[in-house]
Amino acid sequence: MKTNINIFDCKMMKRIAIFASGRGSNALKIIEHFQEHNQIEVSLIVSNKNKALVLNVADRFNIAKLVINRDDFYRSDATLEYLKSHNIDFVILAGFLWLVPLDMINYFNKRMLNIHPALLPKYGGKGMYGMNVHRAVKDAGEQETGITIHYVDPEYDEGQIVFQAKCQVNENDTPESIAQKIHELEHRHYPTVIEHTIRSTFGI
Ligand code: GAR
Repeated sequence: MKTNINIFDCKMMKRIAIFASGRGSNALKIIEHFQEHNQIEVSLIVSNKNKALVLNVADRFNIAKLVINRDDFYRSDATLEYLKSHNIDFVILAGFLWLVPLDMINYFNKRMLNIHPALLPKYGGKGMYGMNVHRAVKDAGEQETGITIHYVDPEYDEGQIVFQAKCQVNENDTPESIAQKIHELEHRHYPTVIEHTIRSTFGI
């Protein structure tokens, strides 16, 4: 938890909201990365599941949480208004599986990143998430896979690619072992790519 932050620091802070639906291992790495940062902070965790483990991560670090439902998210501007009222500068999707509404994408144009557990444009699109991706990679006999970090646009997994990293897939690999390799890559790279992108977006 942060201590000793003066008012000047708070005003200069760029504020991140992380959207996540699952266990939140990426969210945890991102929070840890920015914990002592003097220009960027994780200010909000948004989830569409009220039992998602990522909400426990938010509690551990005393970070505000917002649980959303489908009606609010798609039929009103409540979530976007909430983000605005909390002065969110940048949105990070980390295992968030709902399509983001257009008004939110437009508002956060080039200020919203997603991570996908494959080398897009391969293995992207509707239904391609988590273990589904790793099973498809294994079934296709791929010899390599990886991660893609991209800006979010109105189509699933089609926004401009910011960063990719690869790993090998061996004959002995299973979807589970592929998932582990992918998580290692994600944890190593996502926080630093986020920092780099926010720095170049805001010139800080
Ligand atoms: C991550 O592997 C991420 O790439 C994937 O969900 C996982 C979330 O893990 N996202 C997608 O598949 C999006 N299409 P985590 O909850 O442990 O961070």
